[in-house]
Amino acid sequence: MLEKPLILGGERRSTGKWLDVVYPYTGEVIGRASLASEEDVHTAVERAIEGHKQMASLTPYERYRILMKAAQLLEERAEVFARTLVLEVGKTIREARTEVQRALQTLIFSAEEAKRIGGEVIPLDAHPNGKGKVGFYIREPVGIVGAITPFNFPLNLSMHKVAPALAAGNAVILKPSERTPLTPIMLGELLLEAGVPPMAISVLPGFGDVGKAISTHPQIRVISFTGSRKVGDIITRQAGIKKVVLELGSNSAVVVHKDGDITKAVQKVIAGGYAIAGQVCISVQRVFVHEEVYEKFLMELTSQVEKLKVGDPMDESTDVGPMISVSEVERIQSWIDEAVSMGAQLVTGGVSCGDKVASILTPTVVSLVPSNAKLFREEAFAPVVVVNPYREVDEAISMVNDSDYGLQVGVFTRDIKVAWEFIRGVQAGGVLINEGPNFRADHMPYGGVKQSGIGREGPRFAIEDYTEVKMVIFDLS
Ligand code: SIN
Repeated sequence: MLEKPLILGGERRSTGKWLDVVYPYTGEVIGRASLASEEDVHTAVERAIEGHKQMASLTPYERYRILMKAAQLLEERAEVFARTLVLEVGKTIREARTEVQRALQTLIFSAEEAKRIGGEVIPLDAHPNGKGKVGFYIREPVGIVGAITPFNFPLNLSMHKVAPALAAGNAVILKPSERTPLTPIMLGELLLEAGVPPMAISVLPGFGDVGKAISTHPQIRVISFTGSRKVGDIITRQAGIKKVVLELGSNSAVVVHKDGDITKAVQKVIAGGYAIAGQVCISVQRVFVHEEVYEKFLMELTSQVEKLKVGDPMDESTDVGPMISVSEVERIQSWIDEAVSMGAQLVTGGVSCGDKVASILTPTVVSLVPSNAKLFREEAFAPVVVVNPYREVDEAISMVNDSDYGLQVGVFTRDIKVAWEFIRGVQAGGVLINEGPNFRADHMPYGGVKQSGIGREGPRFAIEDYTEVKMVIFDLS
Protein backbone atom coordinates (compact mmCIF):
# COMPACT_ATOMS: atom_id res chain seq x y z
CA MET A 1 0.00 0.00 0.00
CA LEU A 2 1.29 3.45 -0.99
CA GLU A 3 1.46 5.93 1.87
CA LYS A 4 2.23 9.54 1.06
CA PRO A 5 2.75 12.36 3.57
CA LEU A 6 1.68 15.74 2.20
CA ILE A 7 4.20 18.40 1.20
CA LEU A 8 4.16 21.62 3.21
CA GLY A 9 6.59 24.20 1.87
CA GLY A 10 8.95 21.41 0.85
CA GLU A 11 8.58 19.40 4.08
CA ARG A 12 7.01 15.91 3.93
CA ARG A 13 4.58 15.93 6.79
CA SER A 14 2.19 13.34 8.19
CA THR A 15 -0.72 15.16 9.75
CA GLY A 16 -2.02 12.11 11.60
CA LYS A 17 -5.18 12.14 9.49
CA TRP A 18 -5.39 10.12 6.30
CA LEU A 19 -7.32 10.12 3.06
CA ASP A 20 -7.92 6.59 1.79
CA VAL A 21 -7.39 6.14 -1.94
CA VAL A 22 -9.73 3.59 -3.50
CA TYR A 23 -9.06 1.62 -6.71
CA PRO A 24 -12.31 2.22 -8.62
CA TYR A 25 -12.12 -1.17 -10.35
CA THR A 26 -12.18 -3.29 -7.19
CA GLY A 27 -13.25 -0.87 -4.47
CA GLU A 28 -10.08 -1.78 -2.52
CA VAL A 29 -8.08 0.81 -0.59
CA ILE A 30 -4.72 0.89 -2.39
CA GLY A 31 -3.05 3.80 -0.66
CA ARG A 32 -3.45 6.80 1.55
CA ALA A 33 -2.29 10.39 1.73
CA SER A 34 -2.07 12.81 4.63
CA LEU A 35 -5.12 14.99 4.90
CA ALA A 36 -4.44 18.73 5.00
CA SER A 37 -6.34 21.29 7.05
CA GLU A 38 -7.06 24.99 6.77
CA GLU A 39 -4.18 25.59 9.19
CA ASP A 40 -1.80 23.86 6.77
CA VAL A 41 -2.84 26.31 4.05
CA HIS A 42 -1.82 29.21 6.28
CA THR A 43 1.56 27.62 7.02
CA ALA A 44 2.04 26.84 3.31
CA VAL A 45 1.39 30.50 2.46
CA GLU A 46 3.94 31.73 5.04
CA ARG A 47 6.53 29.43 3.50
CA ALA A 48 5.50 30.27 -0.05
CA ILE A 49 6.20 33.97 0.56
CA GLU A 50 9.85 33.00 1.07
CA GLY A 51 9.60 30.34 -1.68
CA HIS A 52 8.46 32.94 -4.18
CA LYS A 53 11.45 35.16 -3.34
CA GLN A 54 13.78 32.23 -3.97
CA MET A 55 12.05 31.26 -7.22
CA ALA A 56 12.01 34.82 -8.50
CA SER A 57 15.71 35.25 -7.78
CA LEU A 58 16.58 32.32 -10.05
CA THR A 59 17.40 33.31 -13.59
CA PRO A 60 15.09 32.09 -16.36
CA TYR A 61 17.88 29.74 -17.41
CA GLU A 62 18.15 28.29 -13.90
CA ARG A 63 14.38 27.72 -13.80
CA TYR A 64 14.58 26.07 -17.21
CA ARG A 65 17.36 23.74 -15.97
CA ILE A 66 15.40 22.71 -12.86
CA LEU A 67 12.26 21.95 -14.86
CA MET A 68 14.24 20.02 -17.47
CA LYS A 69 15.81 17.97 -14.67
CA ALA A 70 12.28 17.24 -13.41
CA ALA A 71 11.37 16.14 -16.95
CA GLN A 72 14.29 13.72 -16.96
CA LEU A 73 13.16 12.26 -13.61
CA LEU A 74 9.58 11.92 -14.83
CA GLU A 75 10.73 10.11 -17.94
CA GLU A 76 12.75 7.68 -15.81
CA ARG A 77 9.76 7.01 -13.54
CA ALA A 78 7.07 7.03 -16.22
CA GLU A 79 5.85 3.49 -15.57
CA VAL A 80 5.59 3.98 -11.80
CA PHE A 81 3.51 7.10 -12.38
CA ALA A 82 1.35 5.29 -14.96
CA ARG A 83 0.59 2.34 -12.66
CA THR A 84 -0.27 4.69 -9.80
CA LEU A 85 -2.63 6.60 -12.11
CA VAL A 86 -4.42 3.36 -12.99
CA LEU A 87 -4.88 2.58 -9.31
CA GLU A 88 -6.14 5.97 -8.21
CA VAL A 89 -8.25 6.94 -11.24
CA GLY A 90 -9.23 3.56 -12.69
CA LYS A 91 -8.16 4.69 -16.18
CA THR A 92 -6.64 2.01 -18.38
CA ILE A 93 -2.90 1.44 -18.41
CA ARG A 94 -2.71 2.71 -22.00
CA GLU A 95 -4.56 5.90 -21.03
CA ALA A 96 -2.32 6.29 -17.98
CA ARG A 97 0.84 6.02 -20.08
CA THR A 98 -0.54 8.66 -22.43
CA GLU A 99 -1.21 10.95 -19.48
CA VAL A 100 2.38 10.59 -18.26
CA GLN A 101 3.77 11.35 -21.73
CA ARG A 102 1.50 14.39 -21.99
CA ALA A 103 2.60 15.59 -18.54
CA LEU A 104 6.19 15.28 -19.73
CA GLN A 105 5.39 17.52 -22.71
CA THR A 106 3.61 20.03 -20.47
CA LEU A 107 6.70 20.15 -18.28
CA ILE A 108 9.14 20.55 -21.19
CA PHE A 109 7.03 23.28 -22.82
CA SER A 110 6.88 25.08 -19.45
CA ALA A 111 10.65 24.84 -19.06
CA GLU A 112 11.10 26.31 -22.51
CA GLU A 113 8.62 29.11 -21.80
CA ALA A 114 10.69 30.12 -18.75
CA LYS A 115 13.21 31.48 -21.26
CA ARG A 116 10.66 33.45 -23.24
CA ILE A 117 8.90 35.61 -20.65
CA GLY A 118 9.54 39.04 -22.11
CA GLY A 119 7.85 42.38 -22.53
CA GLU A 120 7.19 44.91 -25.22
CA VAL A 121 8.17 48.47 -26.05
CA ILE A 122 5.19 50.82 -26.04
CA PRO A 123 5.71 53.88 -28.27
CA LEU A 124 4.57 56.43 -25.69
CA ASP A 125 5.16 59.33 -28.04
CA ALA A 126 2.33 58.02 -30.23
CA HIS A 127 0.12 59.76 -27.64
CA PRO A 128 -0.16 63.58 -27.64
CA ASN A 129 1.12 63.64 -24.03
CA GLY A 130 3.98 61.22 -24.59
CA LYS A 131 6.63 63.45 -26.15
CA GLY A 132 10.09 62.76 -24.70
CA LYS A 133 8.99 59.56 -22.99
CA VAL A 134 10.16 56.00 -23.55
CA GLY A 135 8.26 53.04 -22.16
CA PHE A 136 8.09 49.30 -22.07
CA TYR A 137 6.52 46.61 -19.93
CA ILE A 138 8.05 43.60 -18.25
CA ARG A 139 6.31 40.58 -16.73
CA GLU A 140 6.84 39.66 -13.08
CA PRO A 141 5.59 36.60 -11.18
CA VAL A 142 2.36 37.19 -9.25
CA GLY A 143 3.89 35.60 -6.13
CA ILE A 144 1.82 32.61 -5.02
CA VAL A 145 -0.42 30.56 -7.31
CA GLY A 146 -3.18 28.41 -5.80
CA ALA A 147 -3.91 25.36 -7.95
CA ILE A 148 -6.97 23.13 -7.46
CA THR A 149 -7.17 20.03 -9.67
CA PRO A 150 -9.66 17.23 -10.45
CA PHE A 151 -9.50 13.43 -10.36
CA ASN A 152 -9.50 12.62 -14.08
CA PHE A 153 -5.95 13.72 -14.98
CA PRO A 154 -4.32 14.13 -11.56
CA LEU A 155 -0.83 14.33 -13.00
CA ASN A 156 -1.19 16.30 -16.21
CA LEU A 157 -3.78 18.80 -15.01
CA SER A 158 -1.65 19.45 -11.90
CA MET A 159 1.35 19.84 -14.20
CA HIS A 160 -0.57 22.37 -16.33
CA LYS A 161 -0.76 24.65 -13.30
CA VAL A 162 2.38 23.88 -11.32
CA ALA A 163 4.97 23.86 -14.11
CA PRO A 164 4.05 27.20 -15.78
CA ALA A 165 3.69 28.82 -12.34
CA LEU A 166 7.22 27.75 -11.40
CA ALA A 167 8.57 28.64 -14.85
CA ALA A 168 7.34 32.19 -14.27
CA GLY A 169 9.05 32.38 -10.85
CA ASN A 170 6.11 31.79 -8.51
CA ALA A 171 5.55 29.55 -5.52
CA VAL A 172 2.64 27.09 -5.84
CA ILE A 173 0.17 25.58 -3.41
CA LEU A 174 -1.57 22.62 -5.03
CA LYS A 175 -4.75 21.01 -3.74
CA PRO A 176 -5.37 17.84 -5.73
CA SER A 177 -8.68 16.01 -5.72
CA GLU A 178 -9.25 14.16 -2.47
CA ARG A 179 -9.82 11.01 -4.55
CA THR A 180 -6.49 11.10 -6.41
CA PRO A 181 -3.78 12.69 -4.24
CA LEU A 182 -0.99 10.17 -4.89
CA THR A 183 0.45 11.20 -8.26
CA PRO A 184 0.21 14.94 -7.41
CA ILE A 185 2.30 14.29 -4.27
CA MET A 186 4.73 12.21 -6.35
CA LEU A 187 4.96 15.18 -8.72
CA GLY A 188 5.77 17.50 -5.80
CA GLU A 189 8.50 15.09 -4.60
CA LEU A 190 9.98 14.93 -8.07
CA LEU A 191 10.10 18.74 -8.41
CA LEU A 192 11.85 19.03 -5.04
CA GLU A 193 14.37 16.42 -6.10
CA ALA A 194 14.95 18.34 -9.33
CA GLY A 195 15.92 21.44 -7.32
CA VAL A 196 12.78 23.57 -6.92
CA PRO A 197 13.39 25.66 -3.75
CA PRO A 198 11.50 23.70 -1.07
CA MET A 199 9.42 26.57 0.30
CA ALA A 200 8.05 27.16 -3.23
CA ILE A 201 6.02 23.98 -3.32
CA SER A 202 3.19 22.61 -1.23
CA VAL A 203 0.83 19.75 -2.10
CA LEU A 204 -2.14 19.69 0.26
CA PRO A 205 -4.70 16.95 -0.35
CA GLY A 206 -8.00 17.81 1.20
CA PHE A 207 -11.66 18.65 0.94
CA GLY A 208 -13.61 21.87 0.40
CA ASP A 209 -12.27 23.50 3.58
CA VAL A 210 -8.74 23.38 2.14
CA GLY A 211 -9.98 24.63 -1.23
CA LYS A 212 -11.80 27.49 0.48
CA ALA A 213 -8.74 28.45 2.55
CA ILE A 214 -6.71 28.61 -0.68
CA SER A 215 -9.35 30.51 -2.67
CA THR A 216 -9.93 33.12 0.01
CA HIS A 217 -6.33 33.70 1.14
CA PRO A 218 -5.38 37.30 0.29
CA GLN A 219 -1.71 36.43 -0.29
CA ILE A 220 -2.58 33.92 -3.01
CA ARG A 221 -2.87 36.13 -6.07
CA VAL A 222 -4.14 33.66 -8.68
CA ILE A 223 -6.46 30.69 -8.32
CA SER A 224 -6.30 28.21 -11.16
CA PHE A 225 -9.08 25.65 -10.92
CA THR A 226 -10.07 22.73 -13.11
CA GLY A 227 -13.26 20.91 -12.18
CA SER A 228 -17.00 21.24 -12.08
CA ARG A 229 -19.04 24.31 -12.92
CA LYS A 230 -20.63 24.16 -9.46
CA VAL A 231 -17.29 24.38 -7.64
CA GLY A 232 -16.02 26.96 -10.16
CA ASP A 233 -18.98 29.13 -9.26
CA ILE A 234 -18.28 28.79 -5.51
CA ILE A 235 -14.59 29.66 -5.99
CA THR A 236 -15.45 32.72 -8.06
CA ARG A 237 -17.73 34.01 -5.31
CA GLN A 238 -15.20 33.28 -2.55
CA ALA A 239 -12.04 34.55 -4.18
CA GLY A 240 -12.38 38.31 -3.80
CA ILE A 241 -9.94 40.55 -5.65
CA LYS A 242 -7.57 38.15 -7.39
CA LYS A 243 -7.30 36.45 -10.74
CA VAL A 244 -9.40 33.32 -11.12
CA VAL A 245 -8.73 30.98 -14.03
CA LEU A 246 -11.40 28.33 -14.54
CA GLU A 247 -11.36 25.25 -16.73
CA LEU A 248 -14.83 23.83 -16.20
CA GLY A 249 -16.96 21.27 -17.91
CA SER A 250 -18.75 20.86 -21.18
CA ASN A 251 -21.14 18.65 -23.11
CA SER A 252 -18.98 18.80 -26.21
CA ALA A 253 -20.52 18.36 -29.62
CA VAL A 254 -19.45 16.70 -32.85
CA VAL A 255 -21.16 17.50 -36.14
CA VAL A 256 -21.03 14.96 -38.95
CA HIS A 257 -22.04 16.67 -42.17
CA LYS A 258 -23.41 14.76 -45.17
CA ASP A 259 -20.06 15.00 -46.99
CA GLY A 260 -17.98 14.05 -43.94
CA ASP A 261 -15.80 10.95 -43.69
CA ILE A 262 -18.15 8.68 -41.73
CA THR A 263 -15.56 6.04 -40.89
CA LYS A 264 -13.17 8.64 -39.54
CA ALA A 265 -15.97 10.38 -37.62
CA VAL A 266 -17.01 7.09 -36.00
CA GLN A 267 -13.44 6.34 -35.01
CA LYS A 268 -12.98 9.82 -33.50
CA VAL A 269 -16.32 9.74 -31.66
CA ILE A 270 -15.32 6.43 -30.10
CA ALA A 271 -11.88 7.71 -29.15
CA GLY A 272 -13.41 10.88 -27.71
CA GLY A 273 -16.57 9.50 -26.15
CA TYR A 274 -15.33 6.52 -24.16
CA ALA A 275 -11.72 7.31 -23.18
CA ILE A 276 -11.32 7.39 -19.40
CA ALA A 277 -14.91 6.16 -19.29
CA GLY A 278 -16.05 9.54 -20.66
CA GLN A 279 -14.72 11.40 -17.62
CA VAL A 280 -13.00 14.15 -19.58
CA CYS A 281 -14.15 17.79 -19.89
CA ILE A 282 -13.87 17.59 -23.66
CA SER A 283 -15.38 14.13 -23.97
CA VAL A 284 -17.67 13.71 -26.98
CA GLN A 285 -21.20 13.86 -25.58
CA ARG A 286 -23.58 15.18 -28.27
CA VAL A 287 -23.24 14.10 -31.90
CA PHE A 288 -25.35 15.81 -34.56
CA VAL A 289 -25.47 13.92 -37.85
CA HIS A 290 -26.89 15.10 -41.15
CA GLU A 291 -30.14 13.23 -41.85
CA GLU A 292 -28.80 11.81 -45.14
CA VAL A 293 -26.04 9.88 -43.33
CA TYR A 294 -27.68 9.52 -39.92
CA GLU A 295 -28.70 5.83 -40.16
CA LYS A 296 -25.35 4.77 -41.65
CA PHE A 297 -23.41 6.66 -38.95
CA LEU A 298 -25.53 5.26 -36.12
CA MET A 299 -25.16 1.68 -37.39
CA GLU A 300 -21.37 1.96 -37.79
CA LEU A 301 -20.97 3.66 -34.43
CA THR A 302 -23.07 1.07 -32.62
CA SER A 303 -21.27 -1.85 -34.16
CA GLN A 304 -17.84 -0.39 -33.21
CA VAL A 305 -18.96 0.56 -29.70
CA GLU A 306 -20.14 -2.99 -29.09
CA LYS A 307 -16.65 -4.24 -29.91
CA LEU A 308 -14.94 -2.16 -27.20
CA LYS A 309 -13.32 -4.30 -24.56
CA VAL A 310 -14.57 -3.32 -21.14
CA GLY A 311 -12.98 -4.34 -17.85
CA ASP A 312 -9.69 -4.59 -15.99
CA PRO A 313 -7.76 -1.30 -16.43
CA MET A 314 -4.40 -3.00 -15.88
CA ASP A 315 -5.04 -5.33 -18.82
CA GLU A 316 -3.16 -3.94 -21.84
CA SER A 317 -6.06 -4.77 -24.15
CA THR A 318 -8.84 -3.04 -22.19
CA ASP A 319 -10.49 -0.11 -23.96
CA VAL A 320 -12.90 1.14 -21.30
CA GLY A 321 -12.34 0.93 -17.55
CA PRO A 322 -14.50 1.84 -14.58
CA MET A 323 -15.96 5.19 -13.65
CA ILE A 324 -14.58 6.82 -10.51
CA SER A 325 -17.34 5.41 -8.26
CA VAL A 326 -20.48 3.29 -8.19
CA SER A 327 -22.55 6.34 -7.28
CA GLU A 328 -21.42 8.03 -10.51
CA VAL A 329 -22.63 4.99 -12.48
CA GLU A 330 -25.97 5.20 -10.70
CA ARG A 331 -26.22 8.93 -11.41
CA ILE A 332 -25.67 8.54 -15.14
CA GLN A 333 -28.05 5.58 -15.34
CA SER A 334 -30.76 7.77 -13.86
CA TRP A 335 -30.04 10.37 -16.58
CA ILE A 336 -30.29 7.68 -19.29
CA ASP A 337 -33.60 6.50 -17.80
CA GLU A 338 -34.88 10.08 -17.75
CA ALA A 339 -33.96 10.59 -21.44
CA VAL A 340 -35.67 7.31 -22.40
CA SER A 341 -38.80 8.30 -20.46
CA MET A 342 -38.81 11.51 -22.54
CA GLY A 343 -38.74 9.60 -25.83
CA ALA A 344 -35.04 8.88 -26.46
CA GLN A 345 -33.89 5.44 -27.63
CA LEU A 346 -31.24 3.45 -25.81
CA VAL A 347 -29.29 2.01 -28.75
CA THR A 348 -26.61 0.10 -26.85
CA GLY A 349 -25.00 -0.11 -23.41
CA GLY A 350 -26.42 1.56 -20.37
CA VAL A 351 -25.88 -1.29 -17.95
CA SER A 352 -23.37 -1.54 -15.16
CA CYS A 353 -21.38 -4.73 -15.04
CA GLY A 354 -23.66 -5.61 -12.15
CA ASP A 355 -22.42 -7.59 -9.18
CA LYS A 356 -19.07 -8.18 -10.88
CA VAL A 357 -17.88 -4.60 -11.28
CA ALA A 358 -20.58 -2.12 -10.35
CA SER A 359 -18.34 0.86 -11.15
CA ILE A 360 -18.30 -0.01 -14.87
CA LEU A 361 -20.96 1.34 -17.19
CA THR A 362 -20.97 -0.39 -20.56
CA PRO A 363 -20.26 2.07 -23.41
CA THR A 364 -23.59 3.64 -24.24
CA VAL A 365 -25.24 5.22 -27.28
CA VAL A 366 -28.59 7.00 -26.91
CA SER A 367 -30.37 8.48 -29.93
CA LEU A 368 -33.09 11.09 -30.44
CA VAL A 369 -32.51 12.71 -27.08
CA PRO A 370 -34.75 15.74 -26.41
CA SER A 371 -32.80 18.92 -25.76
CA ASN A 372 -34.38 19.37 -22.33
CA ALA A 373 -33.11 15.99 -21.05
CA LYS A 374 -30.17 16.10 -18.61
CA LEU A 375 -28.24 13.82 -20.96
CA PHE A 376 -28.31 16.62 -23.54
CA ARG A 377 -28.13 19.70 -21.30
CA GLU A 378 -25.74 18.80 -18.49
CA GLU A 379 -22.20 17.46 -18.56
CA ALA A 380 -22.53 13.65 -18.52
CA PHE A 381 -18.90 12.86 -17.55
CA ALA A 382 -19.61 9.22 -18.40
CA PRO A 383 -19.16 6.80 -21.34
CA VAL A 384 -22.37 7.95 -23.03
CA VAL A 385 -22.80 9.46 -26.48
CA VAL A 386 -26.02 11.09 -27.69
CA VAL A 387 -26.74 10.97 -31.46
CA ASN A 388 -29.38 13.26 -33.00
CA PRO A 389 -30.11 14.12 -36.67
CA TYR A 390 -30.20 17.56 -38.32
CA ARG A 391 -31.14 18.88 -41.75
CA GLU A 392 -29.54 22.33 -42.25
CA VAL A 393 -26.14 23.71 -41.26
CA ASP A 394 -27.79 26.58 -39.36
CA GLU A 395 -29.87 24.11 -37.42
CA ALA A 396 -26.75 22.12 -36.46
CA ILE A 397 -24.99 25.31 -35.31
CA SER A 398 -28.01 26.16 -33.13
CA MET A 399 -28.02 22.65 -31.68
CA VAL A 400 -24.31 22.89 -30.83
CA ASN A 401 -24.87 26.29 -29.20
CA ASP A 402 -27.95 25.09 -27.30
CA SER A 403 -25.77 24.57 -24.24
CA ASP A 404 -24.55 26.56 -21.26
CA TYR A 405 -21.07 25.30 -22.13
CA GLY A 406 -18.59 25.98 -24.92
CA LEU A 407 -15.23 24.22 -24.68
CA GLN A 408 -14.36 22.50 -27.98
CA VAL A 409 -16.41 21.33 -30.98
CA GLY A 410 -15.53 18.82 -33.72
CA VAL A 411 -16.89 19.11 -37.27
CA PHE A 412 -16.55 16.48 -40.00
CA THR A 413 -16.93 17.90 -43.50
CA ARG A 414 -14.95 18.09 -46.73
CA ASP A 415 -16.48 21.45 -47.67
CA ILE A 416 -14.31 24.37 -46.61
CA LYS A 417 -17.26 26.78 -46.71
CA VAL A 418 -19.30 24.59 -44.38
CA ALA A 419 -16.27 24.28 -42.10
CA TRP A 420 -15.95 28.07 -42.03
CA GLU A 421 -19.65 28.50 -41.19
CA PHE A 422 -19.12 26.29 -38.14
CA ILE A 423 -15.87 28.01 -37.18
CA ARG A 424 -17.62 31.38 -37.12
CA GLY A 425 -20.97 30.16 -35.82
CA VAL A 426 -20.22 27.95 -32.84
CA GLN A 427 -19.62 29.34 -29.37
CA ALA A 428 -16.54 27.51 -28.14
CA GLY A 429 -12.91 27.92 -27.15
CA GLY A 430 -11.81 25.62 -29.98
CA VAL A 431 -13.18 24.26 -33.26
CA LEU A 432 -11.61 21.13 -34.72
CA ILE A 433 -12.23 20.30 -38.37
CA ASN A 434 -12.15 16.57 -39.11
CA GLU A 435 -11.00 15.86 -35.55
CA GLY A 436 -12.84 15.13 -32.31
CA PRO A 437 -13.28 17.89 -29.70
CA ASN A 438 -11.21 15.87 -27.23
CA PHE A 439 -7.97 16.54 -29.10
CA ARG A 440 -5.56 18.59 -27.04
CA ALA A 441 -1.88 19.28 -27.62
CA ASP A 442 -0.57 20.51 -24.30
CA HIS A 443 1.01 23.75 -25.56
CA MET A 444 -2.06 25.05 -27.42
CA PRO A 445 -4.44 27.59 -25.86
CA TYR A 446 -7.07 25.45 -24.17
CA GLY A 447 -10.18 26.70 -22.42
CA GLY A 448 -13.78 27.56 -22.92
CA VAL A 449 -16.43 30.22 -23.26
CA LYS A 450 -19.77 30.57 -21.47
CA GLN A 451 -19.95 28.28 -18.41
CA SER A 452 -16.92 26.28 -19.56
CA GLY A 453 -14.61 28.75 -17.92
CA ILE A 454 -12.39 31.79 -17.97
CA GLY A 455 -8.86 31.96 -19.36
CA ARG A 456 -6.69 29.59 -21.31
CA GLU A 457 -4.18 26.94 -20.30
CA GLY A 458 -1.13 25.75 -22.20
CA PRO A 459 2.16 26.89 -20.62
CA ARG A 460 2.58 30.08 -22.65
CA PHE A 461 -1.01 31.18 -22.00
CA ALA A 462 -1.03 30.13 -18.34
CA ILE A 463 2.13 32.20 -17.80
CA GLU A 464 0.21 35.28 -18.92
CA ASP A 465 -2.16 34.66 -16.01
CA TYR A 466 0.63 33.82 -13.57
CA THR A 467 2.50 37.07 -14.20
CA GLU A 468 1.70 40.75 -13.73
CA VAL A 469 2.54 43.36 -16.32
CA LYS A 470 4.77 46.11 -14.91
CA MET A 471 5.00 49.27 -16.99
CA VAL A 472 8.32 51.16 -16.99
CA ILE A 473 8.54 54.76 -18.24
CA PHE A 474 11.58 57.02 -18.71
CA ASP A 475 11.10 60.72 -19.16
CA LEU A 476 13.99 61.91 -21.31
CA SER A 477 12.83 65.50 -21.80
C1 SIN B 1 -10.01 18.04 -18.77
O1 SIN B 1 -10.71 17.04 -18.70
O2 SIN B 1 -10.22 19.05 -18.09
C2 SIN B 1 -8.78 18.14 -19.63
C3 SIN B 1 -8.76 17.25 -20.80
C4 SIN B 1 -7.39 17.03 -21.36
O3 SIN B 1 -6.41 17.67 -20.94
O4 SIN B 1 -7.27 16.19 -22.27
